[in-house]
Amino acid sequence: MSKGRILSGMRPTGKLHIGHLSVLENWVKLQNDYDCNFMVADWHALTSSFEDTSEIKNNIKEMIIDWLSVGLDPEKSAIFVQSHVKEHAELHLLLSMITPLSWLERVPTYKDQIQQLGKQGKDISTYGFLGYPLLMSADIMVYRGNVVPVGEDQIPHLEFTREITRRFNHMFQTDLFPEPKPLLAKVSLLPGVDGRKMSKSYANDIAIGASEDIIWNRVRAMVTDPQRVRKNDPGDPEVCMVFKYKGIYYPEILAEITESCKAGKIGCMECKKNLSGALNKVLAPIREKRQELEARPNYIEQVIQEGAEKARKVASETMQEVRETMKI
Ligand code: TRP
Ligand code: SF4
Repeated sequence: MSKGRILSGMRPTGKLHIGHLSVLENWVKLQNDYDCNFMVADWHALTSSFEDTSEIKNNIKEMIIDWLSVGLDPEKSAIFVQSHVKEHAELHLLLSMITPLSWLERVPTYKDQIQQLGKQGKDISTYGFLGYPLLMSADIMVYRGNVVPVGEDQIPHLEFTREITRRFNHMFQTDLFPEPKPLLAKVSLLPGVDGRKMSKSYANDIAIGASEDIIWNRVRAMVTDPQRVRKNDPGDPEVCMVFKYKGIYYPEILAEITESCKAGKIGCMECKKNLSGALNKVLAPIREKRQELEARPNYIEQVIQEGAEKARKVASETMQEVRETMKI
């Protein structure tokens, strides 16, 4: 028996990196207990990058391939692209009629993002960007989703969605929409190899389909204890990025490394080599699956189409009920 209906999504930013793995692994598990919908949020991507759309189609494809490579299963879940299911847009429009502007303006991420991107010389004071949280509400509500696995950063958007469901239900005297609850996965924030936030734009990420060479290149570039010059200098693993990664990808060796690092008995090169090996072991099966899928573009296309059909079935039923409820 399904424990409920899930909708979650990601904006298509291109190939995913290992910082995304814990979120995806969580999605993969949820497929067994919930009725799952996983969506590539391409319209959401437009809200902040509307002037250059040349990469979007390719980014969508790469993201779907990543999802399938880690084990999202089109037999179990609807895997689709937001813009293929027009019902999201219709619900977004109808909800916009009952959404007070002030609610949107006070979503904490709104002013933050406007300011941040403003500093980079980008003006996103658009109607579309203001409506970002409402489009997300429509995404969830059109499936009458009651559980939404998201990261901490999306909590304000979900709280906003809950308010919109209450307002709609109250205004039209219905219980059509459940109040969706967030499902917070324990996500360990993995920094990039240089210690900054992991991001493709900093070139400090490790793609989940990375080759053995690239993994080694990135690991080699990791910042270790800067005080350590020679191999037999005592090191401090607490300040070392290699050590941080080992905590996640090679935990069984941590105690041993702490000891030998502090005693100056292991060189950083050797320490990096065995991290690289451990990472490669985790990523090799994903990489193989990825290569197989890359060679089957028609299959990917088919997954996306069938996903949209599955999603549309539920979404169009909801819209029929919405129209009836609103008497339009
Ligand atoms: N805003 C989400 C993010 O940036 C992506 C997203 C769009 C989403 N629609 C959603 C997540 C609906 C959960 C549910 O991560
Ligand atoms: Fe880091 Fe390992 Fe070098 Fe110690 S030995 S500083 S843990 S890379």
